[in-house]
Amino acid sequence: MAKIKALKVRTAYRCQACAHVESRWLGRCPACQEWSSLVEEIEAAAPPRPSAAGVADGASPISIVEVVEISAKDRRSCGIGELDRVLGGGLVAGCLVLLGGDPGVGKSTLLVQALAGLARSGRVLYATGEESVAQTAMRARRVGAADARLAVVAETDVEKILAHARAELPAILAVDSIQTMYTPLLDSIPGSLAQVRECASRLMQFAKTTGVPTILVGHVTKDGALAGPKTLEHLVDVVLQLEGDGGPYRILRAHKNRFGSTQEIGVFEMRGAGIAEVTNPSAHLLAERPLGAPGSVVVASADGARPLLVEIQALVAPASAGVGRRTAAGVDGNRVSLLLAVLAQRASCDVLDRDVFVNVAGGIRLGEPAIDLGVACAIASSARGRAIDARTVMFGEVGLAGEIRAVPLCEQRLGEAARLGFTRALIPAQNLARLDPASRAATGMELVAVDRLVAAIAEL
Ligand code: TYD
Ligand code: MG
Repeated sequence: MAKIKALKVRTAYRCQACAHVESRWLGRCPACQEWSSLVEEIEAAAPPRPSAAGVADGASPISIVEVVEISAKDRRSCGIGELDRVLGGGLVAGCLVLLGGDPGVGKSTLLVQALAGLARSGRVLYATGEESVAQTAMRARRVGAADARLAVVAETDVEKILAHARAELPAILAVDSIQTMYTPLLDSIPGSLAQVRECASRLMQFAKTTGVPTILVGHVTKDGALAGPKTLEHLVDVVLQLEGDGGPYRILRAHKNRFGSTQEIGVFEMRGAGIAEVTNPSAHLLAERPLGAPGSVVVASADGARPLLVEIQALVAPASAGVGRRTAAGVDGNRVSLLLAVLAQRASCDVLDRDVFVNVAGGIRLGEPAIDLGVACAIASSARGRAIDARTVMFGEVGLAGEIRAVPLCEQRLGEAARLGFTRALIPAQNLARLDPASRAATGMELVAVDRLVAAIAEL
C-alpha cells in the first residue's frame, strides 16, 4: 500500500471543523484547536462539480432558459414502480444514489431486484464487498433477478472496481456497501471516515465524468445516521433510506433528491422470494384489523405526500410494578408520554399509574403529529374498554392545552379514507372550516369537526 501511495498520490489531513489542511496528522488542529478533527484525504484538484446532466465537462456558462430539462426519457426505470417513484421517475445519467438502512432491512435484496430491472436497458455491474459471488448469485436466483446482463464482482478495492467499470462502461454501477470499500491510496483502515469519504468521492467522479448512474449501499449507525456521517449525504445526489420496524413492511424514503421530490415514499413487503411492492398499502395495513376491539383506531397519516391509513393499537393494563410503564413501537415514546399527560390533565382520562402499550400495526414507523389524535383516542378507548366504530377514521395534532390543531393534506387523507370505505372522520375543526363545500361533498363521509381532545373522546 505504502509503495503505491509513494508513487502515485500525496495525502493531506483536513480539519473537519474548520477545513484547515496539514501535511501530517496532528492530534489537535493548529487553526481551530479542535481535538482529533484531522482526517486523511487525497490531495487533488477540486472534484468535478455535479451538474444536472450529471457530467462535469468544464463547459462554458449558458443562459438558464437554454438548459434542457430532464425529461422522462432521460430516466432509466428500475422496473419497480415504488422505487422509480421515490427516485423521481427513475435514474438520471451520472447520478450518485446512496441507499441506506439498518443491516438486514433488505437493501441488497431491493438493489439486486432493481439491477435486474435495469439490466433490460444494458449491462449492469454489481460490485459487492459484503458477500461472495456465490451468495450474491444465490440471492439473485431466489428473488428471480438472475439476468444474464447482470455482472457481479466480489471486490473491496475501489480502484479495481473503477478499473472494471471504466473498461466496461456499464449502464449502471452498484457498490454494496460503501463501508466495506477501501482505496490503497490512503493509509487509513477500511470503514474509517477517511476511506468511506474518499471511496465515495472517487465513485462520484466516475459517475460524473462517465454519466453512468451509480448506486452506493450504506449502513446506518445505531443513532440513525448514515455511517461516514453527513459527509456522504452532501456528496451524493439522492439519499434513499429503507426503513422497517420489525414487521414485513418496508418504507423507502428520499431524504434528499436533486432530481425529484423528497415527499414521495415507496411501500414494500419482504417476502420469501424477495421484496415486493405494495401498491395499495392502506388496504394491506388494515387487512388484519380486529373489528370491535377497544384500543384499535385507524388514522389517516400522510407520510410525505402519500396518504396512508394505518391502525394504531393501544393497551392500557394494571401496572405490573407499582409504577406505570410505557412501551411504544412505531411512534415516538416521548410523544406518547406527552399525550398521556394531556389526556390526564385536559381530558379527564388519567392512566398515568397504569401500563400503556402503543403499537403501529404492520411495523410501520409514523413520525408526524397528525397521528396524535389517533394515539390519544386509542389509549382512551382501551382505558374505557369501549371500541371505536370500525368505519371511523381520524387525524389531528394534539396541543398541550388539549386543543386539536389543523394538519396539512386534509383532502388527500380524506380521499384515501373514502376510497377504503370509511364513512365517518374526526378531523380538526380548522381543517373542516378551510375545506370548500365541493371537496366536503366529494368525500361522501360524515365529517366531524373536533377542536378539543375531550370533545373528540366524547364523539367516539
Ligand atoms: P438483505 O437484503 O441482505 O439486507 P441488507 O442488505 O439490508 O443487510 O436482506 C436480509 C434479510 O432479508 C434476511 O434476514 C433475509 C430476508 N430475506 C427475505 O425475507 N426474503 C428474501 O427473498 C431475501 C433475499 C431475504
Ligand atoms: Mg446487504
